[in-house]
Amino acid sequence: MKFTNAFTTTFALFAAALSTIVTAAPLEPRDVYTPHVTYPHKGTVWMVGQRHNVTWDTSDAPVNITNPVGMIKLGYETFILPITLASGFNVLDGRIEVTVPNVDAGQYFLVFFGDSGDDSDPFLITTS
Ligand SMILES: *[C@@H]1O[C@H](CO)[C@@H](O)[C@H](O)[C@H]1NC(C)=O
Ligand SMILES: *[C@@H]1O[C@H](CO)[C@@H](O)[C@H](O)[C@H]1NC(C)=O
Repeated sequence: MKFTNAFTTTFALFAAALSTIVTAAPLEPRDVYTPHVTYPHKGTVWMVGQRHNVTWDTSDAPVNITNPVGMIKLGYETFILPITLASGFNVLDGRIEVTVPNVDAGQYFLVFFGDSGDDSDPFLITTS
């Protein structure tokens, strides 16, 4: 039954998230920081092979953040693809230059990993 499966999956994800929160409890007070991706945004079109600056808003960053090291992955539909556009940068930098990977044309989004995740708006990647 579709409904039962969806419920079970949702519950399992919730339980997994809960255990992560418990085991990841920091020793010192730290603030979770969720940067908001400002570029690419709705209406952005990138071409395979081009270089672009992904940008995000750092104006609301707290003083002490749990994880200052960021990573950006590519997402398609509801999936996070195993394609890392950038990693090992400081989430307070506010921008990182990336190369548009060699993917099929379509609608994608970026997933920003730092303290907490944030998805960009959907945007288009073209091949020509
Ligand atoms: C990204 O931003 C930096 C700093 O503003 C700039 O020097 C660089 O040319 C930009 N890269 C692209 C691809 O626009
Ligand atoms: C940030 O962390 C330092 C060292 O752990 C601490 O002294 C300071 O009070 C913290 N600041 C805030 C705003 O939490």
